[in-house]
Amino acid sequence: MKKRNLKGSVVLNPVPVVLVTCKNLEGKDNVFTVAWVGTVCSKPPMLSISIRPERLSYDYIKETMEFTINLPSKKQTKEVDFCGVRSR
Ligand SMILES: Cc1cc2nc3c(=O)[nH]c(=O)nc-3n(C[C@H](O)[C@H](O)[C@H](O)COP(=O)(O)O)c2cc1C
Repeated sequence: MKKRNLKGSVVLNPVPVVLVTCKNLEGKDNVFTVAWVGTVCSKPPMLSISIRPERLSYDYIKETMEFTINLPSKKQTKEVDFCGVRSR
């Protein structure tokens, strides 16, 4: 196979996609789709997510410093897509 030179990018594919849920200090909750997720450590268990500052969830998580990572099933593909394009 011939070597192809691709433009530089930070995108690694395929990657798992997760649904991240969070709350702000007023108790308003939110859910959004995240692909930039990774393992930091197994003991203690730590994961990382990268969130663009323009996301509503960014503000919520900055306020509470808490979030939950949910692993969607194949049946939830449409919901995952929706949460990845629609903000409140
Ligand atoms: C497949 C997919 C992966 C995404 N991954 C990320 C991500 O890792 N980080 C991020 O900031 N936004 C990511 N997004 C975009 C957000 O999910 C999207 O902007 C969402 O509407 C933000 O919701 P919020 O403004 O209510 O927080 C992704 C979108 C899709 C469709």
